[in-house]
Amino acid sequence: MPANILVAVAWPYANGPLHLGHLAGCYLPADIFARYHRLKGDNVLMVSGSDQHGTPITLRADREGTSPEVVSQRYHADFLRCWDQMGISFDLFTRTGTDNHREVVHEIFTSLYNQGFIYSDVMNLPFCPECKRYLPDRYVEGTCPHCGNTKARGDQCDNCGRTLNPEDLQDARCQISGTTPRFQDSEHLFLKLTAFQDSLLQWITGKDQWRPNVLNFTRRYLEEGLKDRAITRDVSWGIPVPLEGYDDKRIYVWFEAVIGYLSAAKEWATSQGRPDAWSDYWEDPDARSYYFIGKDNIPFHSIIWPAMLMGFGGLNLPYDVPANEFLSLEGQQFSTSRNWAVWLPDYLERFSPEPLRYYLAANMPESGDSDFSWSEYVRRNNDELVATYGNLAHRVLTLTYRNFDGKVPSHDTLDEPSSRMLAQAASAHQGVSLSLEGCRFRAAIQQAMGLAQEANRYLDSRAPWKSLKSDPSEAGTTLWVALSVINCLKTLMYPFLPSSSEELHRMLGFTGGVAQGGWEWEGTKESLPPGQALNEPKPLFVKLEDSVLEQESERLQANLV
Ligand code: MF3
Ligand code: ZN
Repeated sequence: MPANILVAVAWPYANGPLHLGHLAGCYLPADIFARYHRLKGDNVLMVSGSDQHGTPITLRADREGTSPEVVSQRYHADFLRCWDQMGISFDLFTRTGTDNHREVVHEIFTSLYNQGFIYSDVMNLPFCPECKRYLPDRYVEGTCPHCGNTKARGDQCDNCGRTLNPEDLQDARCQISGTTPRFQDSEHLFLKLTAFQDSLLQWITGKDQWRPNVLNFTRRYLEEGLKDRAITRDVSWGIPVPLEGYDDKRIYVWFEAVIGYLSAAKEWATSQGRPDAWSDYWEDPDARSYYFIGKDNIPFHSIIWPAMLMGFGGLNLPYDVPANEFLSLEGQQFSTSRNWAVWLPDYLERFSPEPLRYYLAANMPESGDSDFSWSEYVRRNNDELVATYGNLAHRVLTLTYRNFDGKVPSHDTLDEPSSRMLAQAASAHQGVSLSLEGCRFRAAIQQAMGLAQEANRYLDSRAPWKSLKSDPSEAGTTLWVALSVINCLKTLMYPFLPSSSEELHRMLGFTGGVAQGGWEWEGTKESLPPGQALNEPKPLFVKLEDSVLEQESERLQANLV
């Protein structure tokens, strides 16, 4: 029975382009996972969208002198291009500005409100007399009480990293007018998280499949005790509050963005002409939902969203939250303000997606932070993709193509080393499957690459190029075995490297796509029929010159602000 798998991926703020940190953090692992399950024959729904609301968007719009709508639509279009070029295979990548999203948010809000899980209370907030408005945390600037940094923001000090509240700042001023804000009372709505404390603690016990960092973080957070949270803001950009008396307020961006996972599933179902199909992923108790996010988003997905779902009732809670840690760039944190980043649109103008997908998957920040460096990028491309996997495929295919009339050779009864080679492929297949099921992407791609190494060794020790004349039938057997292993690798690599897998599939003489072949690999049976006509072999990957390294290092330095 195919499983129903919801692949829910963090919604990026549409206030700037994506960089490699985003890709490694959640989009690539989600895509690998979704492709694996689709190939296996499961029903997969992979959704996300642009987070169009919140101060990250309005701050950018204010700075540019344009509207948040313009800013968010611009980057939404940019995101769509990136997914397309990188091969990130969303079933739907929508945005939080749709009517559908607002309606679903209102439905959840109203239900929680009617059940008493949302209530109103008064907050003391900074009001700018000059701008005549309440100031969101990020709009208040002042001196950090901890380190004396004069440019600390109302939510955080970038110098010492401490989180702050606007009232902690000394000499607080409005970022826009420079005026000192006064603190005054404003009525807001609160989500009663305290009501879910016990159910959440109970829910996370037995979550053995969760990564230890996610589970420990969540447990600690819950054990410290939850506090109710304000879910409205004094801003004009965002989703309106469906209650009287809240006209000048909007729903807090985090409260509504997480609802996007559900609203996107509904939008997808409608677009399929099966408006109830979302229920397969949300109401079927056997469906599993995986939330791919960066570690800074953990509490929203392991606590707040589950609490909202518990309150609403009847919908599936997250099955797993495989949050990644952070990727750094040449040993330093990615920084948008300093422009210390490799931007995805920029990368795609100069390089192809697969070396990046490979390197990021093999070096994914899964159980700890990891680093991207151009020297490793070049090395992994040249030594692993080109010299190990690409070279294996190329020499086996060219040797066969030239010496066996362009067809898959037939084979004798397999001798011991050949049977062992196929058994190794079968066990690598099993290993990769298990790793992918458990969201261990680094291990999975290492196991696949390990098989390519084994196959190179097998080939070297058999030297079919030598036995071609003396013992053509042995050479044929060796090449058939090697081709079968490559055929297996094509499948194992597909979630990571879809376009080279399609290419390999075609060169092996198959028609249709890799997807039609499914995930299973029947090693010793004739999954690669002798006599099948091959297509002319071409190299799968291209070697990168060392000059790439200098060029990219200079580029990073030159663009630094
Ligand atoms: N926009 C948020 C960020 O970039 C992530 C939101 S994830 C969501 O950090 F699910 F809540 F939408
Ligand atoms: Zn500070």
